[in-house]
Amino acid sequence: MTGRINRRILLAGFAAGAAVAARAQDHGGHGPSSAARPPLDPLATQFGGPFSLTDHTGKRVTEAEFRGRFMLVYFGFTACTDTCPVDLPIIAQALDALGPQAAKVAPLFISVDPVNDTPAAMATYVANFHQRLIGLSGSEAEIAAAARAYKVHRRKLTQAHHGQGQYTIDHGSLTYLMGPDGRFLTLLPHRTSPDRMTAVLRKYIS
Ligand code: NI
Repeated sequence: MTGRINRRILLAGFAAGAAVAARAQDHGGHGPSSAARPPLDPLATQFGGPFSLTDHTGKRVTEAEFRGRFMLVYFGFTACTDTCPVDLPIIAQALDALGPQAAKVAPLFISVDPVNDTPAAMATYVANFHQRLIGLSGSEAEIAAAARAYKVHRRKLTQAHHGQGQYTIDHGSLTYLMGPDGRFLTLLPHRTSPDRMTAVLRKYIS
């Protein structure tokens, strides 16, 4: 129960922050006429956009590859020890729960680690979670552009206790649902329950 309440507070706070950011941008250049426009979910313009990456089979792909399907987008990296091993099994459980309807969804795991996450590393990693999970990686510039489009923070941390040459990457852990036209629909926070994720996916895809 407490977990559910916390998630609601987290999401409400997040939405409020984005709304404030959107208003601040509005006041930046559009002038008073922007107030007369029809109301738009402030989050809808905040997340998503073009990307150009390499999938776990080595094929070059852009966001256009997934048009016509819902994209379920999660960022992370194969050496992650905290967020990814928690959220990817939740995504996998939701896909299984959807049954045949899961074919309408392209689950995308986008790497934040261009150094380690080669297509081969991604192929091994995504297979641990779900046969339909698509791993996407790329160069530093390509990954940076994708992360920027989805407002995903990522910060490489090298600390003494990680040992020589070892590091971790602090990264955003929201799961984004994008429509068949590539536009943002909703997002789900870290540690969303599989039931909740399934219910949200069902609501949009059926
Ligand atoms: Ni992670």
